[in-house]
Amino acid sequence: MLSPMVERSWHVNGTLATVAFAADARLLDVLRDTLAMTGAKEGCGEGECGACSVVVDGELRVSCLQLAAALPDGTTITTAEGVVHSTTGERLRRMMLDRGGVQCGFCTPGMMVAAWWYLETKPPIDARTALAGNLCRCTGYQSICEAVEAAANAEERMG
Ligand code: FES
Ligand code: FES
Repeated sequence: MLSPMVERSWHVNGTLATVAFAADARLLDVLRDTLAMTGAKEGCGEGECGACSVVVDGELRVSCLQLAAALPDGTTITTAEGVVHSTTGERLRRMMLDRGGVQCGFCTPGMMVAAWWYLETKPPIDARTALAGNLCRCTGYQSICEAVEAAANAEERMG
């Protein structure tokens, strides 16, 4: 049986977006298929890899486990597309390239979202802990964590 459709208006990367989707749709699918924001990737589909990371109302979440209909009108969502166009995201992107934090690139959008969340919200944890939910099969974590720490240090120097 087909799920009924629901409609929501969210602030996605700073723009109000009104979307209609099936009541049982995952946020990952609404972002990718309805809003054409393909930065969030489907890796495991089970909340284990972080490839689909987004920030919802200031919280880092995996969009593959987020029921879209559970997000009310007015929810604020930041995706990899929004991150990369921000000042912090630009700094992170530069550091990731400088430190060799990108190889195949599959995990990179999710890593960027988690790192952006870490730099923007400044939780009392280190970069490695902040990225613990994001898996990378290529680089190991040293270069990625170094890139995030370098971006944090650059931010502090610039005040
Ligand atoms: S695809 Fe969502 S956590 Fe892996
Ligand atoms: S760069 Fe390939 S999975 Fe991380």
